[in-house]
Amino acid sequence: MAPTKDPNTLSNHLEFSTAHTAISLTLSFSKSSLYGEVELTLKALADGLKQVVLDTSFLDVRAVAVNGKGAKWNVGNRVEPYGSPLKVDLEKAVNSQDEVIVKVTWDTTDKCTALQWMTPEQTSGKRHPYMFSQCQAIHARSLYPCQDTPSIKSTFDFSIRSPLPVCASGLPTGVHHFVPATSPSEPGTLAYTFRQPIPMPSYLMAIASGDIANAAVGPRSLVYAGPEELLRCKRELEDDVETFIKTAESLIYAYEWTTYNVLILPPSFPYGGMENPCITFATPTIISGDKSNVDVIAHELAHSWSGNLVSNASWEHFWLNEGWTTYIERRIQGKVHGDKHFHFSAIIGWKAFKESVELFGADHEFTKLVIDLRGKDPDDAFSSIPYEKGFNFLYYLDRLVGRERWDAFIPHYFSTYRRKSLTSFDFKDTLLSFFSKDSEASAALAKVDWDTWFYKPGLPEKPDFDTTLADACYALAESWQALNSSNSSFKPSPSDISGWTSGQIVVFLERITDFSTPLRKDLVELMRDEYGFLKSENAEILSRFLTVGLKAKDEKLYGKTAEVLGGWGRMKFVRPLYRLLNECDRELALKTFAKNKDFYHPICRGVVMKDLGIN
Ligand code: BES
Ligand code: ZN
Repeated sequence: MAPTKDPNTLSNHLEFSTAHTAISLTLSFSKSSLYGEVELTLKALADGLKQVVLDTSFLDVRAVAVNGKGAKWNVGNRVEPYGSPLKVDLEKAVNSQDEVIVKVTWDTTDKCTALQWMTPEQTSGKRHPYMFSQCQAIHARSLYPCQDTPSIKSTFDFSIRSPLPVCASGLPTGVHHFVPATSPSEPGTLAYTFRQPIPMPSYLMAIASGDIANAAVGPRSLVYAGPEELLRCKRELEDDVETFIKTAESLIYAYEWTTYNVLILPPSFPYGGMENPCITFATPTIISGDKSNVDVIAHELAHSWSGNLVSNASWEHFWLNEGWTTYIERRIQGKVHGDKHFHFSAIIGWKAFKESVELFGADHEFTKLVIDLRGKDPDDAFSSIPYEKGFNFLYYLDRLVGRERWDAFIPHYFSTYRRKSLTSFDFKDTLLSFFSKDSEASAALAKVDWDTWFYKPGLPEKPDFDTTLADACYALAESWQALNSSNSSFKPSPSDISGWTSGQIVVFLERITDFSTPLRKDLVELMRDEYGFLKSENAEILSRFLTVGLKAKDEKLYGKTAEVLGGWGRMKFVRPLYRLLNECDRELALKTFAKNKDFYHPICRGVVMKDLGIN
């Protein structure tokens, strides 16, 4: 594994590697900022090194010490979109294997992109403020100075002072009273400590603090949420979490992170889920009351192996994180609910894949499996493509060598790169060498056109997925299409969809939005009345129904769209709805954004502004 330069960091990660991070943070809700002290234990990787360069982004650096002594340092000019390099001079050159301890103190600023600070009014309980982080892909540097690249992994000690309970991506080691030291803290402040003994990359550093309670949802799992939501969250998750963990263990190997907990965040959380070690962060839109969105948990749990133990070495190889995770997630679904569900989920994924390719354009760099991110922001490359092209590549290899052989490779791969980071080329070498003594498998693998899979833009050939669960959805959509072109006697009724899973409703609605002519407005209303979609508490269903309505230019749904845009901050729902509302009624789209912009996380705020063309 020859280390390669990560183009999305300004740190000198080929010269030094962080072995341990001891981070101490003091939260100030009144100032919406935090004061931090970090001690990075860096190991030199070459001889004669005289400078350490760390990533920072909009941090107010106060002081730097090297091995306990004040050091010469400066923060270089900002380089978009990567931030400002913090350059620290070493008094004496160091050689390979030497250790240096760099200590930095800083304050975050109001430009911090990793943190969202919420006022009590913005929370559901209305009584306490809330803050949470989202560091993937390159936002950790706006929270603390670090080598912000997934190629570097470090163990962590956290100490976080807050007047409210704290969650972090480590194992809790206590809650402590302390002697207020350098910075004054808010009344009731305690120090919450955590330890992460498994080396992890900076993007998995995560914290949240607010009025958070917890309840058990399995023998090694807790759910954390606001006290008002706790019981509902517990009910949603308690049947599945341990089943998912056991199933993943049977596919790969034992879960290593001790606990697998889930924190349910406020609705402005910008993603469905984020696989922070020991504690997945999740959107409250997965709590729909019918367990229909727990697949998000299977996905984030799968990252405990793919991504968190075995990580992509740079964001150019992001498919190794998300493609593998999507593959494992679907294998879990297949084992728990039957093989049909593996295929059904793959069908839904293929559609998202196709749409992402259309949105970028079929020749676009970001439609490749392995992408060139030099000078680019990894957030701009984010789409379903790494998930689905990655999944389809792995599923292709699975069929090529055969399930039994492939299932022997899975634990081998995850053992080989456990606690390491790798590139697509390492993956290829490991796969080929694993099967090198198996002549039949080798002959099959000789057919793989690696260059095409890695570098050809656009869609690969679509596999024959089992359409058993999708067929009924397609048939019903066809009846509606016939009705739409007025040559049918079809009479819709609630029984059309009785017994359907929410996933099937999603497939049906997505098929409708695929029609070349949008649904007539009177039919949108008929659908609303017969199927009750507008009353759905399931964000997956409601957002798809609004999509159908907006494509039909049904003015009656514009208001409801504006309303949900003020209730969710999950980008998967918010971005397409803003894009469509903008096409229907730009003024309303702009007004809705202006009204809600403080509600959104900075990452979401930024992309919606780009999507709407405002600055
Ligand atoms: N790690 C991702 C979320 C992410 C990716 C955040 C890139 C920032 C940059 C997470 O595991 C994920 O894929 N979430 C999905 C869940 C889904 C595929 C089940 C999401 O948020 O929708
Ligand atoms: Zn993921």
